[in-house]
Amino acid sequence: MSARTRRVVVIEGEDAAPEAMRPTVRLLEGLDLDLEFIHPRVGQAAIDAGESSFPPEARAAIDRSDATLFGSTSGKSALALLYLRWGKQTFANVRPARYRVGYRSPMAVPEGIDFAIVRENLEDLYVGVEGELADLAPLGLESRTAGRPLAELGPGRFAIKVITEAGTDRVARFAFELARRRKARGRPGRVTCGTKHNMLPRSDGLFLERVERLARQFPDIEFQSFIVDDLAHRLVADPRRFDVVVLPNLYGDVLSDAAAALIGGLGLAPSGCYGDDYAYFESAHGTAPDIAGRNIINPTATILSGAMMLSHLGMADAAARIEDGLARVYAKGDCLTPDQGGSASTTEFCEALAREL
Ligand code: IPM
Ligand code: MN
Repeated sequence: MSARTRRVVVIEGEDAAPEAMRPTVRLLEGLDLDLEFIHPRVGQAAIDAGESSFPPEARAAIDRSDATLFGSTSGKSALALLYLRWGKQTFANVRPARYRVGYRSPMAVPEGIDFAIVRENLEDLYVGVEGELADLAPLGLESRTAGRPLAELGPGRFAIKVITEAGTDRVARFAFELARRRKARGRPGRVTCGTKHNMLPRSDGLFLERVERLARQFPDIEFQSFIVDDLAHRLVADPRRFDVVVLPNLYGDVLSDAAAALIGGLGLAPSGCYGDDYAYFESAHGTAPDIAGRNIINPTATILSGAMMLSHLGMADAAARIEDGLARVYAKGDCLTPDQGGSASTTEFCEALAREL
């Protein structure tokens, strides 16, 4: 192990997620890079060992590492995910939607779809403050739309949406810088913001206002904004027009699944979550419990997340090799998993990719 060795924590996740993660790690190991993979016990494995689902050793391993590769969780590894997001302050969740020939896209003309959603990853409704409406009664809040005190709406619950200036500024800056890096690779250099500022002039209004402010610092990057429902329509109707799309947390969660559908499904959608001093990488899909144990999960999303991780760790050449290899496997099209219309197993798909590398 040299001083340059990068430490990567692997958390496999649940259901079918490990079936995508294990071959991904083998593939990365096969590239002979200066990487050390660490497999702390998390989730069921930790529980089986008589520990909590996210033991202090796992947390320490993350703290000592350069990045984490995370499989999806249906709950057992959720504490680890919370730590990777809020503990490590990974505020920018980047979810690229890039079509490659051979992807089973439902679009008539999928060629040229190549945008990235930058989802704010820590705020918005994800601050996790909910409660009983009755508990708000002492505040005497009035519904602006109903024109009545909340207390008169009857039994019910609330959730709080939080947008901060600093939280918005940092994700906006990240989005503009990403657009700049993409522009250097031939993309148009365009940031699009989506908010519901007509209904939420204060919270979403603030998000938009801060992104607009940041836009002035990036005169080389085109900026546009849409109300988020209009944006959803445009993303589907004319996805080629988009480059970088910056969104508050919940809209980013919803629209990134829709973005995955545009190119051919969640099996193809990677993500990277970046903070100021840590990053972790995970497929945007869930754990696919319906196909667990069948060795047919499409590992592309996990492999591409791995490639994003390599780029982040300064191994851009290896990342490009993986992406080119995947592009060739899809272009040939004779060894694809069932979600892409093929009949290959996860293992066969990975073998085909290994041959291309
Ligand atoms: C995602 C997932 C998570 C989210 C869940 C598992 C909490 O849907 O990463 O998109 O909502 O952020
Ligand atoms: Mn999601």
